[in-house]
Amino acid sequence: MTRLDWLSRAAVGALRGDVVVPGDKSVSHRALMFGALAEGTSHIRGFLEGEDTRATAAILGKLGVRFETPAPGERRVHGVGLHGLRGTTEPLDCGNAGTGMRLLAGLLAGQAFDSTLVGDESLSRRPMRRVTDPLTTMGASIDTDDGKPPLRIHGGSALKGITYHPPVASAQIKSALLLAGLYAEGKTEVIEPHPTRDYTESMLKAFGWPIEYSPGKATVEGGHTLHAVDVDVPADISSAAFFIVAACIVPGSELHLKGVGLNPRRTGLLAALELMGADISVENERSSGGEDIGDLIVRYRRLHGVALPLDIVPDMIDEFPALFVAAAVADGLTTIRGAAELRVKESDRIASMAAGLQACGVKIDELPDGAMIQGGAIGGGTIDSHGDHRIAMSFAIAGLVASAPITIGDCANVATSFPGFMELANGVGFQLERAG
Ligand code: S3P
Repeated sequence: MTRLDWLSRAAVGALRGDVVVPGDKSVSHRALMFGALAEGTSHIRGFLEGEDTRATAAILGKLGVRFETPAPGERRVHGVGLHGLRGTTEPLDCGNAGTGMRLLAGLLAGQAFDSTLVGDESLSRRPMRRVTDPLTTMGASIDTDDGKPPLRIHGGSALKGITYHPPVASAQIKSALLLAGLYAEGKTEVIEPHPTRDYTESMLKAFGWPIEYSPGKATVEGGHTLHAVDVDVPADISSAAFFIVAACIVPGSELHLKGVGLNPRRTGLLAALELMGADISVENERSSGGEDIGDLIVRYRRLHGVALPLDIVPDMIDEFPALFVAAAVADGLTTIRGAAELRVKESDRIASMAAGLQACGVKIDELPDGAMIQGGAIGGGTIDSHGDHRIAMSFAIAGLVASAPITIGDCANVATSFPGFMELANGVGFQLERAG
């Protein structure tokens, strides 16, 4: 792949306009998987046409699931039923997607056939024991490369339900176990250290599978049937995050983000920015397919630093790169703790953000589980996104308020979660272009 670099220049004026960001990544992955395992045809609207979710669709396609694309952002999934997938000897490539790989590990652990999940360079460095260990306790047989991908999943294992207390708050761990639990004898119960996004639970319910769940706890038992339903995917708040922070930091701005998913386990960034003094309001709050959605109105207001409360960390785990940028321009010190999980995302996001902000003259001290960021001015510089989509987009917003342009290396992976970011951003006043 040819390397793609970006150049982000300061905004010429305020950011203005309506923005509709692409569909939610977490919901899109799950809608494909449950649609595939259901009896009947499910229609997904608002599907994220990103590389991560397309990789999941391609894998399910190799396993015998037929998809139609009536229009971009739509999929018709012809479900094959819980036991209708067909094995393949071909490696199943999850690309950059940790969610794809970890959830599919749970789903494939219950099949009668063997499969091998592989990923790109970044995914091949990410920890998988967090899912393979509890799946093994359920009776699955999975080989890893010292805890890392590829995952070689041996089919034909009889799974048994377990009660599991994950050591970290992770919707991916919970979801992998619940998916395996569909194929297990007895009850599979996951009790989390802190509640995480509950899309797997709500979608199981929507597809007609009996499930008991409350924040932080979910129980399923094997032996039921999934029935096709239509899924409306909300706009992804993790993609909206870049526009939310951009409007907060560029003087005079006002952006309207339409139809954003507001699942309470995803709105930590809004809470954090409000603590920092941001001006954010929600209009047209409504429910769509069982999910809260709304339009966000974000207006510029000077931010101040905060000591971020620990309990909102899991509710904004993907939004930290953008928050680091907000902290870098806020008045005073922002302290982030309890976020060690950031070190095992698409890149080590604490290290990537610290190195990039330092290159732009920001005073930031790395902590093992967070950072201390002294707000002030952002200068120009050249930074490396480490192939991490969220690092690349965060420095695109840093460039809006930097005293000189920021060159951002290795931005191709923005397409994993946010195809069309540059065009959408430039439409509301960003000055983002390809470098070189
Ligand atoms: C996701 C869960 C989170 C998040 C990821 C999507 C999901 O990961 O970072 O982008 O869809 O379940 P963890 O569960 O590892 O925290």
